[in-house]
Amino acid sequence: MKLFQGFVPMLVLFCLVLTSVLVHAQDDQSGFKSIDCGIVEGSTYTDNVTKIKYVSDVDFIDSGEIHNIFPTYDNSYDIDTQTTTLRSFPQNTRNCYTLKPSQGKGNRYLIRASFQYGDYDFKGKLPKFDLYLGSDYWDTIRFPSSEEPINMEIIHLLSSDYIHVCLVNTGHGTPFISAIELRLLAGDMYKESTDFGSLCLFDRFNYDTGFTTVRYMDDKYDRLWSQFSWESSAYLKTSDHVYTDFSDNPPQVVMNSALTPNSPNGSININWIPDNATDHFFIYMHFADIEILKSNQLREFNIYLNGNLFNGPFPLPFSPINHTTTTFYSTLPENVSPMYALTIKKTKKSTLPPIINALELYTLKQFPQMQTYDQDAAVLWSIKSTYKINTKNWQGDPCTPHEFVWEGIGCNYNDTEFPRIVSLNLSSSGLNGGIDPGMANLTIIHTLDLSNNNLTGTVPNFLSELNFLRVLVLKGNNFVGPVPAGLQAKADKGSLSLSLDDKSTGEPASSCDMNTCKNKKGNKIIVPVTASVASLFLILIAFTAVWMIKKQNKHGLDIRKKQYTYSEVQSITDNFSVVLGRGGFGTVYHGIIGDTQVAVKMLSGSSLQGDKEFQAEAYLLLGIHHRNLISLVGYCNDESHKGIIYEFMANGNLESHIFGIFHTPSSFLNWQERMQIVCDAAHGLEYMHHGCKPPIVHRDIKGTNILLNEAFQAKLADFGLSKAFPTEAGTHISTTVVGTPGYLDPEYYTSNRLTEKSDVYSFGVVLLVVITGQPVITKNENDIIHISRLVNLKLAQGDINNIVDPKLQRDFDVNSAWKAVELAMACVAHTPSRRPTMNEVVMELNDCLVAERARQETQPKKLTTIMSFNMESAYDPTPL
Ligand SMILES: *[C@@H]1O[C@H](CO)[C@@H](O)[C@H](O)[C@H]1NC(C)=O
Ligand SMILES: *[C@@H]1O[C@H](CO)[C@@H](O)[C@H](O)[C@H]1NC(C)=O
Ligand SMILES: *[C@@H]1O[C@H](CO)[C@@H](O)[C@H](O)[C@H]1NC(C)=O
Ligand SMILES: *[C@@H]1O[C@H](CO)[C@@H](O)[C@H](O)[C@H]1NC(C)=O
Ligand SMILES: *[C@@H]1O[C@H](CO)[C@@H](O)[C@H](O)[C@H]1NC(C)=O
Ligand SMILES: *[C@@H]1O[C@H](CO)[C@@H](O)[C@H](O)[C@H]1NC(C)=O
Ligand SMILES: *[C@@H]1O[C@H](CO)[C@@H](O)[C@H](O)[C@H]1NC(C)=O
Ligand SMILES: *[C@@H]1O[C@H](CO)[C@@H](O)[C@H](O)[C@H]1NC(C)=O
Repeated sequence: MKLFQGFVPMLVLFCLVLTSVLVHAQDDQSGFKSIDCGIVEGSTYTDNVTKIKYVSDVDFIDSGEIHNIFPTYDNSYDIDTQTTTLRSFPQNTRNCYTLKPSQGKGNRYLIRASFQYGDYDFKGKLPKFDLYLGSDYWDTIRFPSSEEPINMEIIHLLSSDYIHVCLVNTGHGTPFISAIELRLLAGDMYKESTDFGSLCLFDRFNYDTGFTTVRYMDDKYDRLWSQFSWESSAYLKTSDHVYTDFSDNPPQVVMNSALTPNSPNGSININWIPDNATDHFFIYMHFADIEILKSNQLREFNIYLNGNLFNGPFPLPFSPINHTTTTFYSTLPENVSPMYALTIKKTKKSTLPPIINALELYTLKQFPQMQTYDQDAAVLWSIKSTYKINTKNWQGDPCTPHEFVWEGIGCNYNDTEFPRIVSLNLSSSGLNGGIDPGMANLTIIHTLDLSNNNLTGTVPNFLSELNFLRVLVLKGNNFVGPVPAGLQAKADKGSLSLSLDDKSTGEPASSCDMNTCKNKKGNKIIVPVTASVASLFLILIAFTAVWMIKKQNKHGLDIRKKQYTYSEVQSITDNFSVVLGRGGFGTVYHGIIGDTQVAVKMLSGSSLQGDKEFQAEAYLLLGIHHRNLISLVGYCNDESHKGIIYEFMANGNLESHIFGIFHTPSSFLNWQERMQIVCDAAHGLEYMHHGCKPPIVHRDIKGTNILLNEAFQAKLADFGLSKAFPTEAGTHISTTVVGTPGYLDPEYYTSNRLTEKSDVYSFGVVLLVVITGQPVITKNENDIIHISRLVNLKLAQGDINNIVDPKLQRDFDVNSAWKAVELAMACVAHTPSRRPTMNEVVMELNDCLVAERARQETQPKKLTTIMSFNMESAYDPTPL
């Protein structure tokens, strides 16, 4: 039982006061589906309190009966309108609602199912039944009382276009349901956690006094935030704006209050007992300081879970930020425990007690069964509605679970990712009208039986294009016209068993019939000239289809699989036979997965962190996608072997091109190409700084970490790695300094901290190298000169041609070059605050690129001269 529950029935809403206070909330319900089960079929209404628009459930289910709850519960309780009506299911063991949200698969949804018994059947006996999501068990619905509503809520990433919410009768009373709500979440919400599975809501609290449940429109995702007040605690409240910048932050009205202990030295203790001792929890804690602190005041605290420091995304101790939300969340599923104690405790330094504004607790749930392949499922739903099939058990997913496979269909569960439909038997099903053209999409079906119905019209030609079709039974219908030539040819050849009434076949269409050909524009199978050519063609098609399916599956498996064993890595890299490079973190090998080339970085053993940190980091990195960041394919986390697998970059690193380590002429980069590459790299870094939450500091930006693919598109490599795997950078420095000499922010030596601005410094150095073609460090007799000093000295002379790489032979736009130099010098400013942000860098570099492109357009195209140059003099490989 939940410790917290019993204070506030979650669905009881007293939102009137709040909604009237609302000024800036927007009414956008485009990502919502709100179904009030049991209201008059086809009716809709807008909830007076929440302004949410509800529709009747008739389009989502075709079984069950509708009821109202017993009027006493309706009147005596200030109840949600949605729970006053319901749909119950005295028939069938399993009944399913099927929803097809328009945004489709690949999106995260909050799915909420609500139930209130309210003695609707006058039996006064609380039922107990099971709730399923798709083919997987979600939870058991048990009622503590007739009047208390139950809300089941889950955050779930859709792997199919269809959502099935199913109720299963387990012999303890008739299942029923009051409401189903679907809320599309923003792309990055709860992303870190949902990489592990789906999140079932355990509790979600707004620490504030009173009994209001905050939801839509305050929360545009319509999460329910129940208020929770403790007698023995104090509450802070503000009317000032509190920043809630990230989409999974709670809404403003939740963040503007906080709980704090009564006594200045007190701690916040939150305890709970899991419903099931095997549950893994995910915890989200939201903090914002809403008091205005005096200069001699400090609020700083540590967070402990079961006595251990909380392992979140930010370092502890932590000081909540003035009127700005920070979310601490579990980066990994928490260890199971029979009971949980979350303690927030001030540090010795802190003059103020800790606070917490909001808390979310989720348990991890796996929904491993893959639903039927969407295209196949779509055909069956179309058939179901076209022929109004409602006497069969056609509910939920067609192929799963095994015990509820739809009557009359056969599924293939072989090593494909999704179950596929391979046979359909609709014999004697009372079908009327023509053959549903959707059947053309059952691309791997081998048996189709439509016999003994009242089907009319012609036998459609697309049936002959179903290349796996071996049995086709059409007898006992009222078809007219000839059999399509392709079908007849297959039948004649014996590759198809075709059963048709004589009356409908008429003369077999052994030659091209004008009527049949006319409406077959663009068909690939026209007329089989001879049987042998036709069969060869068919075999070819079949072969291609099989090959395509195989290829697709292989690809799918590889992407889904993220963790590889060491022995798999050995085979991927052909036992580490081809070395691509060596770096601070280890050696990079060439590898092949399926038919895709990859690079495998095996991390050097000595300085690795623990398994848990590694896993967390790997998951973090796997979740980051940007066209200018190397994408990670997977990782290996065997005991003593840790490795990262990422996409293969055919053209190596930027530095090797600038210094001509590749001898091929194609490796020479002109000014426009150089600007394009640094612009790409800047985009990648901008994304890490400004597009990721929390921001990621690369910590090791340098020419060799900017890689180029076959189209010379630049991508940053090794991002996030330095955090996960601190290691000696090079052999010259014995301490565990991260970063690379020459590229490392000088400010680091005083602050010992690498920030976004440190990356900007390193990026400035890269820019200088790209502009000048000079190494980062030049040894000059007894002097060691850093590139920034070198450029600074030359700047004084005021001649851009003295600065820019002489190999470019003055073939560049002068304004573009000046702008780039100025930008680079601003990036390497000594004081971090004077360096531009990556947003600004991207804008400036765009301007450089535009200026150069404009020049090239006005210039007559001159013959490309390929410089030959002496790489020895251009590149001094000894850095110090
Ligand atoms: C909403 O309010 C109107 C007017 O107050 C009332 O007539 C209507 O019944 C209410 N609707 C619901 C669903 O409570
Ligand atoms: C809080 O702790 C400090 C230091 O431990 C102590 O000096 C102070 O008296 C305590 N205050 C209260 C109210 O207990
Ligand atoms: C707890 O969860 C496990 C694994 O999901 C399940 O097998 C078990 O039946 C559950 N126990 C209870 C009491 O629900
Ligand atoms: C904290 O935020 C409030 C409200 O935005 C503002 O009035 C105040 O000046 C800020 N205090 C500090 C120390 O920044
Ligand atoms: C699926 O696998 C089973 C046994 O593994 C095999 O008998 C069957 O022919 C396969 N079906 C298809 C369509 O490949
Ligand atoms: C289809 O089902 C009917 C009866 O359910 C059966 O007689 C018939 O043989 C089936 N057709 C095929 C092709 O298996
Ligand atoms: C076809 O339709 C007629 C009436 O329209 C009906 O009597 C007959 O039973 C139907 N046949 C089948 C197989 O459903
Ligand atoms: C077949 O499926 C595709 C996409 O999967 C869809 O666009 C098309 O409309 C379907 N064709 C028919 C006839 O339903």
